[in-house]
Amino acid sequence: MIIFDSVSKIYGNGTVALDKVSFAVGVGEFMIISGPSGSGKTTLMKLIIKEVDPTHGKIVVDGDDISEIPHKNLHLLRRKVGVIFQDAKLLEGKTVAENVDIVLEIMGLSETEIVKRRNDLLELTGIAHHSSDFPSQLSGGEAQRLGIARALSTQPKVLFADEPTGNLDPATAKDIIGLLQDINTQGTTVLMATHDLDYVKHIKAHRLVLTKGVLTSDSFAHHTSSHHPSKETKKEAPDEDKKT
Ligand SMILES: Nc1ncnc2c1ncn2[C@@H]1O[C@H](COP(=O)(O)OP(=O)(O)O)[C@@H](O)[C@H]1O
Ligand SMILES: [Mg+2]
Repeated sequence: MIIFDSVSKIYGNGTVALDKVSFAVGVGEFMIISGPSGSGKTTLMKLIIKEVDPTHGKIVVDGDDISEIPHKNLHLLRRKVGVIFQDAKLLEGKTVAENVDIVLEIMGLSETEIVKRRNDLLELTGIAHHSSDFPSQLSGGEAQRLGIARALSTQPKVLFADEPTGNLDPATAKDIIGLLQDINTQGTTVLMATHDLDYVKHIKAHRLVLTKGVLTSDSFAHHTSSHHPSKETKKEAPDEDKKT
C-alpha cells in the first residue's frame, strides 16, 4: 500500500529529518511508527500526503509514485490517506455534525448522501449523541473521535494517526487505540505514530522504530502464529546529532 525506497528529507535549514528510510506497508496492516520527539515521524506522515517532498528517494502510495502526481490531483491522494493529529484540528464554530458535513460537501456528495454518511461516521466513532454539540463541549477523547470521523469521511484506504493519544489520559488513550484497531479490522490500513510505547506495546502490529531520522528497526510482533513471515532488521543509530 505504501513503499518508501531510500527516502531522505533534508529541510531547508540543513536538518536531516529522515535518512535513507526504506520500508513497505501492506494492505490492511496496522503499523506503529515509534521514536522520540524529533525522530522524523511527522515528516514521514507529511511525505505520504505530499505536504513536503523528499530530498532523495521514491514514495509509492497505492501503486502511484507520488512524485508524479500533478498538483491538480493532490486532493485525490489526500482523500486516499486520511490524517488525524494530536490536536484534532476541529472547526470550533461548527457543530460536530457540521464538522463532518463540510468534508463531505467539499467532496461533492448530495445532501442525502451527506446525512447518511455523517450519521454512519458518528455512529462508528461513538459520538452520534453529540451531533449538535460544539467541539468546545466535547471531552478530549470525544474530540479525537470527531477528528477520526472527519479523517474517515473520504473513505480513505489509509489512516495515518500522528500521536493521536498525546493529549489523552491513559483510559481514553486506550479507547482511541481500540477504535483505530476496529477501523483497521474493517479494512483500512492504519499507521500510528507515537513517542509513547506504553499504550501500544501489547498490540499485534508491524513496527518501525525511528532514531534521529534513521529507521533502526522494522519488525512484525505477533501474539499468535502469523500470516506474515517473521522479519526483523536492525541498524545502528547515528552517533552524532544530525541537527547540530
Ligand atoms: N519545517 C521544518 N523545517 C526545519 N526542520 C524541521 C521542520 N519540520 C521538522 N523539522 C525537524 O526535523 C526533525 C524531525 O521532526 P518531526 O518529523 O516533526 O519529528 P517527530 O514527529 O518524530 O517529532 C526534527 O529535528 C525537527 O526539528
Ligand atoms: Mg511529530
